[in-house]
Amino acid sequence: MAILKIARMGHPVLLAQAAPVADPTAPDMRRLVRDMAETLVDAGGIGLAAPQVHESLRLFLWRDGDTLRALFNPELAPLGPERALGWEGCLSIPGLRGQVPRFTRVAWRGLDQNGEPTEGVAEGLAARVLQHENDHLDGIFYLMRMEDLSMLGFAEELARVQEQAR
Ligand code: NI
Repeated sequence: MAILKIARMGHPVLLAQAAPVADPTAPDMRRLVRDMAETLVDAGGIGLAAPQVHESLRLFLWRDGDTLRALFNPELAPLGPERALGWEGCLSIPGLRGQVPRFTRVAWRGLDQNGEPTEGVAEGLAARVLQHENDHLDGIFYLMRMEDLSMLGFAEELARVQEQAR
């Protein structure tokens, strides 16, 4: 196991179209999932996409309640037109938070770490995390989804404002 270095915004791997994974059960993929899990826990994140650890592959990990799931070759589809604004941050853009519009319900499917088809429906925060991580596989940052950049700030400052409003 190893904690991997996280690519930050500006690194070209984060702008690339990631490639599908042929075999999630291959030893190097099993190792990558383990290392990404360790990296995600160490960083205290709720999602991590393979391009963020310099691997341009269609794979991300996300926290589904208490479960850490790996999803290979994911496909997402919004369930209905409804979108909502919510705060997001990104391990590749440390310190910043922004309000991002996302679909509130999505259907997701892909392959799990045993190479088996898996699918589900996600709402709220889980739907948001899935859309954020899936975007990383297409070279898209949450900043590119923002419609109002005045709703972007440093987490420290935003926390201070919230503290004062209390
Ligand atoms: Ni991110």
